[in-house]
Amino acid sequence: GMPNHVKIVEVGARDGLQNEKKIVPTSVKVELIQKLVSCGLPVVEVTGFVSPKWVPQLSDAKDVMEAVKDLEGARLPVLTPNMKGFEAAVAAGAKEVAVFASASESFSKSNINCSIEESLVRYRAVTSAAKKLAIPIRGYVSCAIGCPVEGAISPSKVAYVAKELHDMGCFEISLGDTIGIATPGTVVPMLEAVMAVVPVEKLAVHFHDTYGQSLSNILVSLQMGISTVDSSVAGLGGCPYAKGATGNVATEDVVYMLNGLGIKTNVDLQKLLVAGEFISKHLDRPSGSKAATALSGA
Ligand code: HMG
Ligand code: MG
Repeated sequence: GMPNHVKIVEVGARDGLQNEKKIVPTSVKVELIQKLVSCGLPVVEVTGFVSPKWVPQLSDAKDVMEAVKDLEGARLPVLTPNMKGFEAAVAAGAKEVAVFASASESFSKSNINCSIEESLVRYRAVTSAAKKLAIPIRGYVSCAIGCPVEGAISPSKVAYVAKELHDMGCFEISLGDTIGIATPGTVVPMLEAVMAVVPVEKLAVHFHDTYGQSLSNILVSLQMGISTVDSSVAGLGGCPYAKGATGNVATEDVVYMLNGLGIKTNVDLQKLLVAGEFISKHLDRPSGSKAATALSGA
């Protein structure tokens, strides 16, 4: 049945901004994160300690993390693609991290420059270092539905990578439809395959809204017992290594739907609208959230 409470993992400051061509000033990122934390969001992903050559937008990861590390009320994870990123994250004050594998060989190569197996070896090193420091570690599986190069990805491949991440100690596995092609028709068999090898309480869904299917995909995921949902304020986002991928599902739209279902999130929608307006104004573009647009009376 449907959960009574959903944990929203806000990824706007990381997934949302990583694809922006124009460098967003560190102070704007910090203010965005402060505003998101003040909404009551339980988890606000802050940045990625990734190569600045690969993702120039996140080259200020250290400064952003140091500026927000003492904010209270939310967990503040960061992406770490290898030991170098993990060590830099911890040095900057990160208390939670995330590794990101792919269910597609081609995407693994283009996103993190190694094969799936090589990435799992790297991530075992990161998870064992994290364990020693009692740092919780999340795992992402990208291309959980399809890949920009390989097309459809089989649910068994997704289940394999999810199980590997779970076995190495990731406390939660986020299943990412990186390019936003999923429909409920492909989400259900993928989740069935993953739920056969990883407990449903450990799973999260991460939808990009390229084809406008995210809310339907979230609804079927909730019906299957998922209670953790990734989303991005104002629908910001896209992956620099996934051509054509648009933003994540908008957090405002997710909260609006969950409110309508009577499912608790602890998120203050009014404050969330302010955070969304703040970053949309800075990026000089209309919000990608339909709920935010409707509620702001535009
Ligand atoms: P590489 O070039 O193979 O790395 O990149 P390398 O180990 O060969 O090192 C090359 C240089 O990079 C060296 O510097 C290293 O020190 C440096 P040099 O000696 O040439 O001066 N380096 C680093 N610098 C800073 N931070 C680091 C780091 N590691 C090495 N952590 C690497 C491999 C994984 C680093 C690179 O490919 C990378 O950073 N990839 C990240 C790409 C990324 O951030 N993608 C977006 C996030 S994933 C996503 O959006 C999907 C998700 O949202 C879920 C979904 O939607 O499905 C999570
Ligand atoms: Mg993503």
